[in-house]
Amino acid sequence: MTLTPNFDMDQFPATVPYYRTVAGASLCAVSPDEAFYRTYSAAQVDAIIGSLAQHAEFPFSLTYLGSGSESWRDGGLSPTSAAAPIAPATLLERHAEQLLALVPPSPSIQVVDLGPGTTRPIHGLLRHLLGRSRLAGYRAIDISAEMLELARQNLRTAFPHDADRFELCRGDFTGPDLAQVLIAKDEPHDDDSGPVRFVVMAGGTLYNFAEPDRVLRHVRHAMSGHDLLVLTLRFDTGVDQPPLMDHSGSATKSQHRAGLDLLNIDRSWYVTETGFDRDRSEVFVRARFVLPVAVTFDVDGARRTVSFEPGDTLLVWRLFYPDRSTLVDQLDRNGFKMRLFQFGQGSQVALVAATPGS
Ligand SMILES: C[S@@+](CC[C@H](N)C(=O)[O-])C[C@H]1O[C@@H](n2cnc3c(N)ncnc32)[C@H](O)[C@@H]1O
Repeated sequence: MTLTPNFDMDQFPATVPYYRTVAGASLCAVSPDEAFYRTYSAAQVDAIIGSLAQHAEFPFSLTYLGSGSESWRDGGLSPTSAAAPIAPATLLERHAEQLLALVPPSPSIQVVDLGPGTTRPIHGLLRHLLGRSRLAGYRAIDISAEMLELARQNLRTAFPHDADRFELCRGDFTGPDLAQVLIAKDEPHDDDSGPVRFVVMAGGTLYNFAEPDRVLRHVRHAMSGHDLLVLTLRFDTGVDQPPLMDHSGSATKSQHRAGLDLLNIDRSWYVTETGFDRDRSEVFVRARFVLPVAVTFDVDGARRTVSFEPGDTLLVWRLFYPDRSTLVDQLDRNGFKMRLFQFGQGSQVALVAATPGS
């Protein structure tokens, strides 16, 4: 795969694929259309080009924007779906008292939800805290306007009397936007009278990122020593194959293809593959090109082209799938100590809580 700054597309309509013969194979040349530039900011377009060119990966977190969010709308995802929520609504609620036991006896808890999605997995915990008058507030940040709208609707339905004071922010919590939800004024006071924060990343949100360690360190940096990190994730029990690999259908979920569709890469130009990368402990879905493909972007009037040869692959989804010791090590090297580990009803789902410090 190569990145060419000056690929000459001038004589072709911007969004219509054209074909020319390169060493006997048809070159499929496309440009993303308006929907792509409407969906993504200039910085996100830049990040997509960088990720395609340097890592042969479409950043999965950006597929929650625009049409990629549609599969979440009806809430009708099957439990085995790669895009299905990992934490059933009951998992956090069932262990709420154990979570509370890990923090100083604060009168109230501020819940900070990083990547809330539909918000359904957090409802049980919110209900538990509200029922005991322990909820200081709920603040969530999501990169996708569409997911936030879904979150808003679901919260209004589930909490008609409280949803007005819940705060939903649009932003990327892997960067400076994190300060919108993890801000100093909320930090617990020295006398432990202020709210304690539960910083939640449910549904494996952390583990879709190419560099979960970097994200974890970033979140750690914004947390105070009194806060609690709460994760839910799929987990390697050592007795089963990685989840989502038991049926080839998982490779063709619409959200996996959403990025490539927005780039105007025709579905007949690649095949999809699901696999498990043992070195990275990751399940992945990737596209393998069967034809030479060139995608040309318009960046502030300049053209940049990323091209792929037949046989090249492009990663469209990844999920870190650790065993317990890998997880303990990961938390440890990023400034956290694991304090709670609980399996969910499905044996491959776990709830993990960790406090800052080693
Ligand atoms: C795997 S879903 C999990 C949703 C929910 N927590 C659950 O358990 O069902 C990931 C969510 O995180 C959001 N997200 C992904 N990357 C993000 C980022 N960098 N900043 C903010 N939100 C992000 C997505 O839009 C999506 O709503």
